[in-house]
Order: sequence, then C-alpha cells, then structure tokens
Amino acid sequence: MAEDMNLLDVIYNCRAMRRLDSREVPEELLVKLIDAANQAPSGSNMQNGRWLVVRDPKIKQQLAELNRIGVEAYMGFNADLSNGLPHQSADKRSKMINAVLWQMEHMHEIPALVIACLEFGTKVNQDMISTNGGSIWPGIQNLLLTARALGLGATPTTLALSNYQAVSEVLNLPDTMAACCLIPVGYPTGKFGPVSRKPTSEIMCFEQWQ
Ligand SMILES: Cc1cc2nc3c(=O)[nH]c(=O)nc-3n(C[C@H](O)[C@H](O)[C@H](O)COP(=O)(O)O)c2cc1C
Repeated sequence: MAEDMNLLDVIYNCRAMRRLDSREVPEELLVKLIDAANQAPSGSNMQNGRWLVVRDPKIKQQLAELNRIGVEAYMGFNADLSNGLPHQSADKRSKMINAVLWQMEHMHEIPALVIACLEFGTKVNQDMISTNGGSIWPGIQNLLLTARALGLGATPTTLALSNYQAVSEVLNLPDTMAACCLIPVGYPTGKFGPVSRKPTSEIMCFEQWQ
C-alpha cells in the first residue's frame, strides 16, 4: 500500500478527493480498482454489480452535462448549503461546495469516470434503483479504499444520475441495468488527509438505544 499504510490508515484517511489532475491513470490501476470492488459481498451472493470505466472524451462530456444539471438543481434546492452544520463548520462546508463546483466544471477532464451499476435481471424502474443499492455500495467502498491505497483520488457521486433513463442512454445500458454511483478517479492536485467525523460516542450505544 502507498506510504506503508495499513488498512486502518487507509480507512481513516479516505476523504472525498474532487480536485483531480487530467494526467492519465494507467489502465492496470483502473482494472485493479474494479477487481477490488468485485471482491465485495452482495445480497444472496448474486454478484450483480457491473462496472464501466469511461475514458472516452465524448461520453465523459455527456456525463459532465448530466452532473451539471444535478449539481445546479442541488444547489438551487439547498440555498443554505454554505451554512455550517453541528459537525461541520461554515468554512469547511463552503470549501466542500467549492470543490463540488470545481468538479462540475472539470468533470469532462478527469481521466476516468467509473460507473458502478447493478444488473437487476428484469426491467428497471426508479423504485428498484432507490431501494436496492445495498449490493453495490460495499464494492464502491472497496474501490474508494483501494484508490486511496494506490495514491489515487476518488469521490462517490450520485448527482449526475438522477435521470436514470438519460444516463442509461449515454452508457448504452440494457433496460435491466442501472447506474448507482459515478466515481471520478485521477491523481489528486491537493493533499490527502484524515476524514473528520462525529465522535463515535455520539453515534453508538451498546445493547439498546439511549
Ligand atoms: C450516497 C452518496 C452520494 C454522494 N453524492 C455526491 C455527489 O453527487 N457529488 C459529490 O461531489 N459528492 C458526493 N458524495 C460525497 C460526499 O459529499 C462525501 O462523502 C462527504 O461529504 C464526506 O466527505 P469526506 O469523506 O471528504 O469527509 C456522495 C456520497 C455518498 C455516500
């Protein structure tokens, strides 16, 4: 692993990295990410995760446009986005929003857009996509951790995917398959660092909730 990191170091230092260089990522590393994602568990061991790695500039541009629509709608609905939260200062939150906006402007230049999909085996509808994510997110987290271990930046994103029919058309997905997450991957322009989360004492109890 990079910088002699062990698994826990990787978990505690796997921040969303949105500002990425346009430098190409070697294909063998992209395959390694998907191979790691593919080791994750799935409900009933269906192994129904499917992974697309988009490097084609035209397809990236189309995904970038869908992301722009999603980000603009999100910003519009959430006017108070740059206010702080109890666990995130206004300053940190506004840095995050700036990074989301940077990603929106540069999505088409990011070397690889990985799309995590599910194969449902039957015609997909929006409800199925909303309620069946459990079998793809373990793979997505494996991919994020592996990217961090390899010195690659990545972020799980969903704002580009709200119009699932438009996404399916861009990606030529069969009507039994749906895109669940878009993960831009590349070498980070900034520094990696530790994640910042609520204290464990605030989010856990033993035996019963109190
Ligand atoms: C289900 C899900 C959807 C997300 N969608 C987006 C997105 O559309 N765009 C984006 O920039 N980040 C997205 N994120 C990333 C989160 O904003 C990020 O994980 C969170 O702010 C924590 O960031 P940190 O790990 O750097 O602390 C998403 C994360 C999850 C788990």
